[in-house]
Amino acid sequence: MALPSLIPKLQYLPLVSQLLGWFDTHARPLPWRLSRDPYAIWISEIMLQQTQVKTVIPYWTRWMNSLPDVNSLAAASEDQVLKLWEGLGYYSRARNLQKAARKISVRTDGCFPRSLADLLDLPGVGPYTAGAIASIAFDQPEPILDGNVIRVLTRLLALSGDPKSKAINQQLWTTASALVEEANVASRCGTQRCARFNQALMELGAIVCTPNQPLCHLCPWLSHCAAQRLGQAQHFPETPPRPPTTPRFFATALLSSSGRFLLRKRTTVEVNAGLWEFPNLETEPDANPINQLEDWLGLPSLKWVRKADLRHSITRYRITQRILVAEASPDLRGLPSEWLWVAPNDLQHFALTGPHRRLVQRLRLDSA
Ligand code: ADE
Repeated sequence: MALPSLIPKLQYLPLVSQLLGWFDTHARPLPWRLSRDPYAIWISEIMLQQTQVKTVIPYWTRWMNSLPDVNSLAAASEDQVLKLWEGLGYYSRARNLQKAARKISVRTDGCFPRSLADLLDLPGVGPYTAGAIASIAFDQPEPILDGNVIRVLTRLLALSGDPKSKAINQQLWTTASALVEEANVASRCGTQRCARFNQALMELGAIVCTPNQPLCHLCPWLSHCAAQRLGQAQHFPETPPRPPTTPRFFATALLSSSGRFLLRKRTTVEVNAGLWEFPNLETEPDANPINQLEDWLGLPSLKWVRKADLRHSITRYRITQRILVAEASPDLRGLPSEWLWVAPNDLQHFALTGPHRRLVQRLRLDSA
């Protein structure tokens, strides 16, 4: 059974009308907001997961120019899709977009599903994305709950406890639902009220109710906010501390032969499946990376030059990549047939993982 919303019934209408009024004058002019096309909104919502708006804008624009509708995405090659996504990370999002597009294309000839249940049936679409598409594209009173909304609502209610725990999460969904239901019937608040309300809630979290130093004096909900009354806005949400980071080490071989570089495609059982990279092997921290690479690649002993390490983080892993450069003889045998020797000018056409694209740029391999 759904829990009751934590907001007293009398407060729904002022909350809704004040937030909608604020959104009308403060919404950022984001390109996908000019569209009511569910496909365009879906692509923006998937790209915006874990990624900032300013990063997403050029990706979304390029994607929409190349693959403007469901059927073009369904018909594209996986290489094209991954190339358009290159640098956004979490590549299963891009592969799921294409799986979902193929499902829509086959089932309904590209006509986008409207109901929450049909949206939830698409690969990569969970309750947040389904609610976002149903409300933003189709103006249905479906709730959304993402990191921004969790922050806004836990502060509004001074709601203690881990917002990801089952009980608190359910209360937050119920509250988000009660608010968008109220927007749906608030006939004096203009049109497209569910679409505007949900976006306004996320916008408030993104530009006013920010994680650090929220701009409470600019908040349309200031007089309703329980956390602000307690002088404790920054205390919420009570998210548990992140798990400690784990160091991991890799050896990366920039192996060239007759001026071309060796690339391998990551297999379907690996993370970042379908992306390309320079041969890259996880090693022990104190292992000799050269011996390990030569063993793995079945190489004779080569003259390796070590370049500066590349460091980056992925989720909770702090990764150190040891970069080794060598020239191999052109008759190198025994490499898997799907590995490729690629001319420097052609590196731009391959979807590389983020760190390997940075290596190309740092070492200017594409102008070799
Ligand atoms: N974050 C994710 N989706 C968003 C949207 N539609 N508006 C503002 N911020 C968002």
